[in-house]
Amino acid sequence: MNVQESARVDTASVPAHVPADRVVPYDLLRISGSDQDPFKVMNALRTKADIFYTPVHFSNSAGAWVLTRAEDIRHVLQNPQLFSSQGVSGFSKLLGETWDMIPLELDPPRHTQFRAILNPLLSPVKIAQMQEGIRASCIELIDAVANQGGCDFVEAFAKPFPVRIFLQLMGLPLELFDQFLKWNNSLLFGESMEERIAAAAAIRDYLRQLIAERKKNPVKDLVSSAVQARVDGEPITDDEILGICYLLFVGGLDTVAASLSFYFRHLAMHPQQQQQLRENPALIAEAVEELLRTHAVVMVSRFVTADTEVAGVAMKQGDCIAIYTSFASFDPAEIDHPEVVDFNRSLNRHIAFSYGPHRCVGSHLARRELITALEEWTRRMPEFRIPSGAAVKMHGGVVFSIDRLPLVW
Ligand code: HEM
Repeated sequence: MNVQESARVDTASVPAHVPADRVVPYDLLRISGSDQDPFKVMNALRTKADIFYTPVHFSNSAGAWVLTRAEDIRHVLQNPQLFSSQGVSGFSKLLGETWDMIPLELDPPRHTQFRAILNPLLSPVKIAQMQEGIRASCIELIDAVANQGGCDFVEAFAKPFPVRIFLQLMGLPLELFDQFLKWNNSLLFGESMEERIAAAAAIRDYLRQLIAERKKNPVKDLVSSAVQARVDGEPITDDEILGICYLLFVGGLDTVAASLSFYFRHLAMHPQQQQQLRENPALIAEAVEELLRTHAVVMVSRFVTADTEVAGVAMKQGDCIAIYTSFASFDPAEIDHPEVVDFNRSLNRHIAFSYGPHRCVGSHLARRELITALEEWTRRMPEFRIPSGAAVKMHGGVVFSIDRLPLVW
């Protein structure tokens, strides 16, 4: 979708309390095209207004407010009483069911109780114990293409890598890899709604069966820990355990795949920075922070629980707010030359993993995956680049992604 096409966006659903000069008739979910870097397209919209209203939003047919300033974004994310997460994902609705994605769709104090269950299961210590397996998966996927002279990075690495790590995290055997990869592709990238719903149901059925099995025979894994967890002294329900497992599945796959795809596109287009990492692997952890900032792929939503104002803009109970984490990354009020990717940046306060109580509980695992991928690709592979004339298909959405990234070496 380009700027001319935005004229086709229907503004009839915009609520009466939204001033006309704050409406930006642009479908942010549909930014697409090989010539359109979704981060650049988004960032250009900052000039329209600090806070504007998009008539198109996935979880609210009337549209959503969009915040562009990091300060306003943090204000909303750290006030869950006024800006609630209830009902933001819509995954169970897809199946005609009502369970929540946990802890994402809970507000404090209930959220805090469930976070307390998950924090130790995904702590730095737990993730350090996974490191060997993460590296082995990474190397195996690289070895499979190393002698081919090139690959589609998305299919060969970005998508399968986090699926393998999810199986490891859940204590599931690698034989399930093809099945889970297929479910993941159908659920998130399926061409028809029927295909997506069928995948959503198949994943739910598999997880329900796994939960029942771990209840009968607990082992030392994440699902068994969830099954045995208690909130207010009571065991958590099967729907709550399902909500946790389902969120770990959808939360940790395309976020990592999309991030890796953008990082490798950047490195393929900037051979000097690629070389910098090859020569100085100690820089990779900082490089990942800078790439997280400049390619913050996730958009999160909140619903306003009582009439309020954000930076002087009146919002009504029930309004939806779309928080594109990348707007905070490029806020010139907080970051010098925000558009420059600088691996030696000393101050880097990005919110790619969100902010406030819902800050990504998988961030330690995500960082491990991203760092390991950069370490092994730069250690094992010669300089890689995008072949001239090859199309890289990027798009915006709830998670900004790349569909195809041809690389050669
Ligand atoms: C680069 C990769 C990742 C990015 C950019 C990312 C981003 C995010 C963001 C922005 C949120 C906040 C949502 C909100 O505020 O509404 C979040 C929450 C969450 N993420 Fe991640 N994530 C990544 C990887 C992972 C992984 C690998 C896992 C699983 C192990 C995971 C599990 C979760 C969970 C369970 C939540 C909900 C936390 C809560 O509500 O308290 N994420 N993530």
